[in-house]
Amino acid sequence: MNKEKMKDMADRVFRDMAGGMAVGLAHVGTQTGLFKAMAGNGAMTVDDVVSASGLQARYVEEWLKGMVTAGYLDYDTAAGTFALPEEHAYLLASDDTDHYMGGLFGMLPPLLTVAPRVIDAFRHGGGVPFADFAPECREAIDLMNRGNYEHRLVDYWLAQLPDVTARLRAGGRALDVGCGNGHVVFALAKAFPVSEIVGVDPDAKSIATANAASAGIALAPRFVNATLDKVEAKSKFDLITLCDVLHDLPAPIPVLTDIRTRLAPDGVLLVIEPRVSDHLEENVNSLAAMFYGFSVFHCMTQSIAHDGAGLGACMGPTRTAALFREAGFARVEQLPIKSSVNLFYAVRH
Ligand SMILES: C[S@@+](CC[C@H](N)C(=O)[O-])C[C@H]1O[C@@H](n2cnc3c(N)ncnc32)[C@H](O)[C@@H]1O
Repeated sequence: MNKEKMKDMADRVFRDMAGGMAVGLAHVGTQTGLFKAMAGNGAMTVDDVVSASGLQARYVEEWLKGMVTAGYLDYDTAAGTFALPEEHAYLLASDDTDHYMGGLFGMLPPLLTVAPRVIDAFRHGGGVPFADFAPECREAIDLMNRGNYEHRLVDYWLAQLPDVTARLRAGGRALDVGCGNGHVVFALAKAFPVSEIVGVDPDAKSIATANAASAGIALAPRFVNATLDKVEAKSKFDLITLCDVLHDLPAPIPVLTDIRTRLAPDGVLLVIEPRVSDHLEENVNSLAAMFYGFSVFHCMTQSIAHDGAGLGACMGPTRTAALFREAGFARVEQLPIKSSVNLFYAVRH
């Protein structure tokens, strides 16, 4: 046995355990407002952070020290003060922006809560349906994605499709399939107020949240609590979006085929999927390791729960493009949109 290799593995196990614990501590930081209490305040003593956050002193002290060891906070030994660097605050205390990363932390608790059921599924098959995940899972998905939808979807991503945005500006129709809490729909409705915008999702709680959020909007978009096949087909859509949904679908080909029949002849299906390579050896990195975790504890498993395809979060661009072609689409283009986490496809008849 190679002792160095064994030692490296032991280090890796500690590092990964520390990473899991750092996520837990950082989740506390986002949920309690500790990061926000420190943002922009420079060096702070424990008492300063306790005053700014209104939280329990002993918990705050232990959290501060833990976050220093994890590299999230700076520590001044001589002064005994803690600081959240500006660059870290930009990512951790910036809710609803397109650079907020704090939403990721919220994924781990609800995913690990279903771990016993996932382990059982490894042994006996089956899965965990989307509806069985704790409400915190929907909230975490929402928090993870909504800043991007609010700030990038129209101004950056859809700017790649000027023909489609021109039609929506003039009063076209758009459909978001798997709309979740509705942030893609809200961003489209805000940018294209004379268009008809529809969101569809079989998850009743997500649609209830979306409907509640649209209560105060004058020209509110329409949300339908159903799978796409149950939605009446009226006029065709200029834009159909599948954002972080395709790989979750139990029956991707029937849904894509249905989408094709609802897409206007010159319409576009915009699909957003995790950024991974086709080749496993190119996916040996933190991002893909995170996506595989999401896949086993959520994406693949909730699809298999419905006897579905279980595509998983990391199917990669070649398999994704093959799905579009199998569903009868002729033109598949990967859009040149810069993103460290997503791949974007424009799919046409
Ligand atoms: C990972 S969430 C993404 C939600 C939202 N699009 C976002 O990006 O935040 C996947 C969504 O797909 C929905 N979904 C699953 N199966 C579906 C189907 N057959 N038709 C439409 N939506 C579906 C789920 O209910 C869930 O809301």
